[in-house]
Formats: sequence, structure tokens, C-alpha cells
Amino acid sequence: MGGWGASWPVGAGAMGSWPPSFVRTSRAGRVIVLERGRAGDGASSRAAGIVRAQGGTEAAVALVTSGMTLGLGTGSTVAFVLEALGRRIRTEGLGIKGVPTSRQTEQRARELGIPLTDLATTPELDLAIDGADEVDPNGDMIKGHGGALLWEKIVATATRRLVIVVDPSKRVERLGATRALPVEVVPFGWGTHEAAIRALGARPMLRRAGPVGTPVATDEGN
Ligand code: A5P
Repeated sequence: MGGWGASWPVGAGAMGSWPPSFVRTSRAGRVIVLERGRAGDGASSRAAGIVRAQGGTEAAVALVTSGMTLGLGTGSTVAFVLEALGRRIRTEGLGIKGVPTSRQTEQRARELGIPLTDLATTPELDLAIDGADEVDPNGDMIKGHGGALLWEKIVATATRRLVIVVDPSKRVERLGATRALPVEVVPFGWGTHEAAIRALGARPMLRRAGPVGTPVATDEGN
């Protein structure tokens, strides 16, 4: 996701009183990154960073209007988005339908009363809101540490506009500074994929989790 410069109309009308410290818009006008908080604020405390990211999530949710189809991202930042959407549905009768990028988001959306659909029914989405793991000065980013790799990329492709909300701890000079690049591979071919990735000059490691280090499987089973 690169090529930042021109602007998507996020001025007064669309953003209300939101004066973000960091708003970047892709040249194609399709992707926007919202950040709230001073640079460096979130570096020492992830929890504090998330709280500061709430300003960004509110601004993102303010872009949602009745009738929209929404891509619903995954992660701790998006958790605030889901809560805010649930609140607007309850208090304003906001009429939206969401396509979740993970089972985790699907479950939380159901708990909050957010109506859901899928890409078979709704192949094109109006707006998607998600988080990111790292964003560099060009607006390129690493995503996927929440494990929603493939689904979130498909939703990002299916949406007309994508809003990424980050806190200052996600801002890096060079991608890979704090996180490795997650890549979803098909179980059948993972040995071959590993060799291909190694040939690119990377040092691939199988992602494991849990007490016995079980290989991580995505919702797609990869
Ligand atoms: C999901 O796979 C990811 O791309 C998340 O958007 C990313 O990991 C950010 O997650 P947090 O909001 O939890 O930091």
C-alpha cells in the first residue's frame, strides 16, 4: 500500500471537528491512515497507544453513514470501531452491513448487534476500517499480526475506500523495525513457499503459538 500524496475529502464536512495529527491519503484517494497522539507518545506503552488510537477510531466511524457496506478489520484497534458502530446502531438506528475479516471480528460484531453479510452477497464494499502493525513515512504498512492475513487483504481489495487507524507506536522509519512481515501460506506447499521466500533474501520462520508452539492456522486454514 504505497503512493501517498493527493487527498481524499476528509476535511471539515467528512471529519467533523477531527484535527488529526497524522492523516495520510493514498494518491488514488482510496486509503487513509488516521493517527491521533503526538509522535513517540505510544512507543513505551502499547496500552496507552491504543487509548490514543481511539480518537482515530471515532473519526473513522464518523465516516460511516446509513446504507453503507463495511469491511470490518481485526485487532485491538478495530475492537473500538466495532463498539462505536454497535453504539451508533443502537442509538441512531444506523443501518449498515459488515463483512468481517476474521472469525474473532465476526463473533464480536454479532455480540454488538452489527448486521453481517459476505463477499458472495456483497462483492464490493463502500468502506473498510482496519488497523496496521507498522506504517512508514511513505504510508506503506505491515499488516497481519492479528492473523487475519488473507481475508483482510481480500476485503481491502473489495472496498472502495480503506481507513487504517494507528497509534503513534505503529509509526516506523523503515518497515520491519518492530515486526516481521507476516505471510500466509497454504499448508500443502509451505516447504516450497519457505524456499521461495528464502530465495528473496528473507529468513522465514513458521509462526507458532500456544504452550506447545503449534503452527498458527488462519481462519482460512492456512
Ligand atoms: C490483523 O491481522 C492485523 O492486520 C491488524 O490490523 C493489525 O495487527 C493491528 O492490530 P492491533 O490493532 O491489535 O494493533
